Amino acid sequence: MTTYGHFPRTRPRRLRSTPAMRRMVAETRLHPADLVLPAFVREGVSEPVPITAMPGVVQHTRDSLRKAAVEAAEAGVSGIMLFGVPEEAKKDATGSAGTDPDGILQVALRDVRAEVGDDLLVMSDLCLDEFTDHGHCGVLDAAGRVDNDATLHRYAEMARTQAEAGAHVVGPSGMMDGQIGVVRDALDGIGREDVAVLAYTAKYASAFYGPFREAVGSSLTGDRKTYQQDAANTRESLRELALDLAEGADIVMVKPAGPYLDILARVADAVDVPVAAYQISGEYAMIEAAAEKGWIDRDQAILESLTGIKRAGARVILTYWATETARALGRD
Ligand code: PBG
Repeated sequence: MTTYGHFPRTRPRRLRSTPAMRRMVAETRLHPADLVLPAFVREGVSEPVPITAMPGVVQHTRDSLRKAAVEAAEAGVSGIMLFGVPEEAKKDATGSAGTDPDGILQVALRDVRAEVGDDLLVMSDLCLDEFTDHGHCGVLDAAGRVDNDATLHRYAEMARTQAEAGAHVVGPSGMMDGQIGVVRDALDGIGREDVAVLAYTAKYASAFYGPFREAVGSSLTGDRKTYQQDAANTRESLRELALDLAEGADIVMVKPAGPYLDILARVADAVDVPVAAYQISGEYAMIEAAAEKGWIDRDQAILESLTGIKRAGARVILTYWATETARALGRD
């Protein structure tokens, strides 16, 4: 026979040959502990309310939220991030229901914390948009612009009431300048050095938040482009990162996840604190909608999307599929 020198001697396909081989060489493994479940709790409802644009996700009642928290803990999920949806009549210009010790978010934090203790990290969204009648993440000045420094005072108060209600972790998500330092100082000022700050560090003004706005009954008209970042930019994320670290962030987050994997990778390379990524409502809705039409394999698409986020550098992933995925993965 003649030589076969023109055939490849090196064959990457050998390492893809069987499920056992692929499993052995996999560089990225999802684990239930990677996951955090974002959850909505609505004031004054007796039954969970489905969210049309997020099939399978509901606005919880206080009771159904407790149950969801227990299920997440049992599945091995690391944490639950709570968002409060107040009664419409309780919204006002300063979002006062967001700092009320008996507001829906604080009440839900107490409920969940009483239920799960330290078995599940109880996290709290720290932002005013669910509670303001204009739907912005901060308070407005006389000209109708979001007033950064006046908002910081509101965030400090929010941090204190959330810590007192039992949050292990607070997540300032309003993209106000200085928010991490102010929240850290507010917590330390009441002797709550133990409460961690998960900073929404690189948060982009994204069209993919659309379904979330339904989920929280948002009153927003217009956009958040004067405080959330422009999709065109990388460098300002690195600047936000430097500031958040200097101000005391314990964990830094990139949001959305899927369309910003390059940002996630850059941030993960740059820091030695844990990095989180938030797979947001629109990312969820797109996969659910395409799967419903029979256009993609839902379960595979979910796992692939989460694997991509972890591969890019996320230590922690917030995803509405947290409990389901954790169950599918198994605890060990
Ligand atoms: C602000 C906040 C938003 C989300 C999380 N925190 C909405 C926004 O910035 O408009 C979006 C999450 C999602 O879309 O899943 N409190």
